[in-house]
Amino acid sequence: MPTTTWNRHHILSLADFTPIEYDTVLKTAASFREVLSRRTKKVPALQGQVVANLFFEPSTRTRSSFELAAKRLSADTLNFTSATSSMTKGETILDTAKTYLAMGCDIMVIRHKEAGVPNAIASELDRLGERVSVLNAGDGQHEHPSQGLLDLFTICTLIDPLEPRLELLQGKKIAIVGDILHSRVARSNIWSLTASGAEVHLAAPPTLLPKWFADFVNDEDITGEGEAVAKEVFVPSPIPKRKLFIHWNLEPALRDADFVMTLRLQKERMTANLLPSLREYHQLFGITRSQIKHCQPHVKVLHPGPVNRGVEISSDLMDDPEFSLIQTQVTSGVAVRMALLYLIGSGKATG
Ligand code: CP
Repeated sequence: MPTTTWNRHHILSLADFTPIEYDTVLKTAASFREVLSRRTKKVPALQGQVVANLFFEPSTRTRSSFELAAKRLSADTLNFTSATSSMTKGETILDTAKTYLAMGCDIMVIRHKEAGVPNAIASELDRLGERVSVLNAGDGQHEHPSQGLLDLFTICTLIDPLEPRLELLQGKKIAIVGDILHSRVARSNIWSLTASGAEVHLAAPPTLLPKWFADFVNDEDITGEGEAVAKEVFVPSPIPKRKLFIHWNLEPALRDADFVMTLRLQKERMTANLLPSLREYHQLFGITRSQIKHCQPHVKVLHPGPVNRGVEISSDLMDDPEFSLIQTQVTSGVAVRMALLYLIGSGKATG
């Protein structure tokens, strides 16, 4: 089992992740990927610990891969879905969390449609002096750190399967395309990919970019191509310089890109008519074979899932293993989530 130092108790956001932490996750996930290739895919790392998956919002990949990851580490798992819980009888979120605490839970993996719920539960556990860790499995439009880390792992292992590390992405061009406004995945990926020294290019219609991105762009930053360019953005962080470019059309973002991440149109989070039609959106921002001709010949396409086929990506491209990393992302998810549970769980055992 990997030996490493890790001091973070909760994993709630990638905003303040350090390069050492990214590399620790990548290295640990690589060692668990090796475990998952063995005949016996299980290690006793978290034997006796209880991992509770508290999903207040639907999920296929995140919930199942956290459950499988916990089982591969020999932890006991509890699965909660709000629709079949006592929340239907009026129990609050905090009382639900405290119920799992009373059962001896060591790690809570939490997804909620509102931003900030995992942070609120983590703060309450800290206030109570409990040593239970919280892992954010996606909160509203805020963050999805484990998805950001598995995307990072997927890309880095493609470049160096044996030694995935942050520096491999230095100078790479990565386009993130689509519904950035509603995407917690985009927010986590922006933190991790800009931390690596990659050039991150966002492409979306102005209605699907967060307002503060639009506020950041001055008129003089808009080129003749309708391309808005912004550099060295963001709040103070351990990583001083981040390269982020913003485009209101697709082609400049795709030009010579090494990787393209396309995002699901989050129709369930749209409260206003932000798009003329799905057909027009696909024509302007859909990733297709003809669009990826603007990219490097070795370009790979990622999508966090679930996918609206034929909207954000054409169905044939999604299923083409020459270009699509979508299935690899799901596979990476188990190793990365094993790494995260191991890093916060084994620290608990020895601390
Ligand atoms: N990518 C992702 O979070 O997928 P699920 O909603 O299926 O967990």
